[in-house]
Amino acid sequence: MDSSRIRIISDDITRLSVDAIVNAANRSLLGGGGVDGAIHRAAGPELLAECRTLGGCETGQAKLTRGYRLPARYVIHTVGPIWQDGEQEEPALLASCYRQSLQLAVEQAICTIAFPAISCGVYGYPLDEAARIAIREVRHFLAHDDQIEMVYLVCFGGDVRQAYEQALCEKEG
Ligand code: AR6
Repeated sequence: MDSSRIRIISDDITRLSVDAIVNAANRSLLGGGGVDGAIHRAAGPELLAECRTLGGCETGQAKLTRGYRLPARYVIHTVGPIWQDGEQEEPALLASCYRQSLQLAVEQAICTIAFPAISCGVYGYPLDEAARIAIREVRHFLAHDDQIEMVYLVCFGGDVRQAYEQALCEKEG
């Protein structure tokens, strides 16, 4: 399958000049550690103020705000599953995060979007499995969409990069 619109990069997602960056948030949408903390710090307090109006977000869903002081115009906040044992719908919920975020992006006329490795930090999702799900969902989405020009899968650490590169090489299963 065509992967020319998927790019794996190593960077701090808060520095990227894309139309939208995705935040690996929690259900409160009121900030936290990891990439969520970094995004809120870089975007400034206006981001938290807008998040307060959203009423939280369910796991597997996504909500959009402006990017404020970020180079990115928008932030798409999605809530990944907390890894338990893989039998609590974690794969379906993680897949939903990617699909819902991309769907929101298309509705907002976004052409370039960057994802962190959702659930792969504090939420403990096994990297290889999460990378496979991310690549599969992005590929499926792009196969039916012409608007998105580039999806960046952003790595913050070598292990994540290796997992993505491996998943990108694998054939569709
Ligand atoms: N740019 C890109 N990726 C990053 C950055 C960054 N600046 N910082 C961290 N990562 P995590 P989760 C990577 O823990 O597992 C928060 O407290 C990180 O290396 O941020 O979905 C929320 O409020 C890892 O690969 O998110 C939630 O409570 C990936 O981003 C909870 O953590 C995700 O790690 C969500 O946990």
